[in-house]
Amino acid sequence: MRVLASSLIVLVACGGDEHPQQPDAHVAADAAPTPDAPPELLTSAEKAAIHLLSPLPAVPADTTNAFANSTQAAALGQKLFFDKSYSGPLAVGDDGTNGGLGMVGEAGKVSCASCHAVSSETMVDLRSAPTNNVSLGTDFGTRNALGIINSSYLKWTNWGGRFDSQWSLPLAVSENAKIMKSSRLQIAHMLYAKYRTEYNAVFPVALDPSLDPAATDAARFPASGKPKALPADPDAAWEGMTAADQAIVNRIFANYGKALAAYLRKLTSGNSAFDRFVAGDTTAISISAIRGIKLFLGKECVTCHSGPSFSDGQFHALVVPQTGAHVPATDLGRYQDVPPLLASAFNTNGVYSDDTSTGKLTALAQDATQKGQFRTPTLRNVAMSGQFMHAGQLATLAQVIDFYDQGGGDPGTSGVVKDSLIGPLTLSAQDKTDLVELLKSLTGDPVADSLLVDTSK
Ligand code: HEC
Ligand code: HEC
Repeated sequence: MRVLASSLIVLVACGGDEHPQQPDAHVAADAAPTPDAPPELLTSAEKAAIHLLSPLPAVPADTTNAFANSTQAAALGQKLFFDKSYSGPLAVGDDGTNGGLGMVGEAGKVSCASCHAVSSETMVDLRSAPTNNVSLGTDFGTRNALGIINSSYLKWTNWGGRFDSQWSLPLAVSENAKIMKSSRLQIAHMLYAKYRTEYNAVFPVALDPSLDPAATDAARFPASGKPKALPADPDAAWEGMTAADQAIVNRIFANYGKALAAYLRKLTSGNSAFDRFVAGDTTAISISAIRGIKLFLGKECVTCHSGPSFSDGQFHALVVPQTGAHVPATDLGRYQDVPPLLASAFNTNGVYSDDTSTGKLTALAQDATQKGQFRTPTLRNVAMSGQFMHAGQLATLAQVIDFYDQGGGDPGTSGVVKDSLIGPLTLSAQDKTDLVELLKSLTGDPVADSLLVDTSK
């Protein structure tokens, strides 16, 4: 390395100034920019570009959730996040190697935290990483768990954008037979039995006293049930309820999601070494990571991994092959996730949304170009995550970089159209190391320990 640290300070410092700063007198001779300046020095255009990636701002408002910023709602959400009691029986048990959560048939074994709360720095599915590519809850799912730290910044939730709000996600997750296998009636009863005081303190309409199993009209609310997904769905008790009682349970269910979303909004992590570098601490990241910045900007990574979340929030087809343990043969991503989003009674246009004027769903429709597209994930904290891509197909960051270097995957006859930005990159071994170094510099401050305490009853 032939550049002195002192001259780097001069050339990479980013005080919001577009132009290189005047060098100090004693380093002026070495520091004058020359046409053959070493590649690790950032140009003024590059400095301007990294200011678009940092710092991480406050979480954007969510007008569709009137309780998004309620401290009491978040405290209830934290309890619900760690509470296993409302999950259904396991279809796949622990075989000693798969990270299973109990014995086949056992209920009450899965909470949100089973897949998301593994450390204060990252909240991703590390539990099952050594043997599984996809998550294991009550059964094997079809995708790799996303991290939830900083997830409240993104407009569309999940790899395929299946949800248009943070609060609607827990609803589908809790009722999904492969994740928690619960039901909205079960959740309403659980809230009444365990968290009645907390719930009633936050939400305007108190939990219906008929949810008490000892109430004379308790039969209005069967112990479990949800709308029939399939003709043979065993939860058909739901269909026998009056529409008015179904609406009461749906409202409670939506509030369950809104409490969880209020908690998720608190899980943010910024102030990474990269952020400190952008703010002017020129020694915060290595020279290798600085070269990584040049590659990240020069090789178009930043076109998709843009903004302070390192994600454009949009969907792209990289054509990562559907291979690995329990990975389904096909996953059409956005294409298969749009119809259930549009059909959901809990989307942002529905009656349970506190703001139906966001226009988020305007003009959204399933269309063939969405085939095989997945949402650009955030790269913040990415080095703390294990198993990368939507089905955990790639084990290390080095493998991810190799995948990009090769120009992504081969769509074959799948009908998937690979994104035009994805093509061979001709990276050297050093370039690859530099990109990985940059990715490692994106690990932010840990989330406060108090948010990771299991406060469930
Ligand atoms: C069995 C493991 C498992 C459990 C249990 C689980 N999740 Fe997840 N979570 C996942 C997977 C897998 C994904 C990605 C799913 C997809 O894209 O289809 C995900 C995605 C998410 C995301 C989206 C993040 C983003 O960047 O869009 C959030 C938020 C989240 N989960 C919160 C929760 C909450 C809240 C609960 C409890 C109600 C929960 N999860 C229960 C595995 C799990
Ligand atoms: C065309 C948009 C696009 C470009 C360009 C792009 N990415 Fe990505 N990136 C994505 C998408 C979409 C995914 C998820 C793909 C999937 O799972 O199928 C992803 C996944 C990743 C992941 C894995 C994250 C995780 O949590 O699993 C890393 C790391 C990454 N990209 C880094 C980079 C780097 C470095 C570059 C430049 C060499 C780059 N990306 C260029 C869109 C893009």
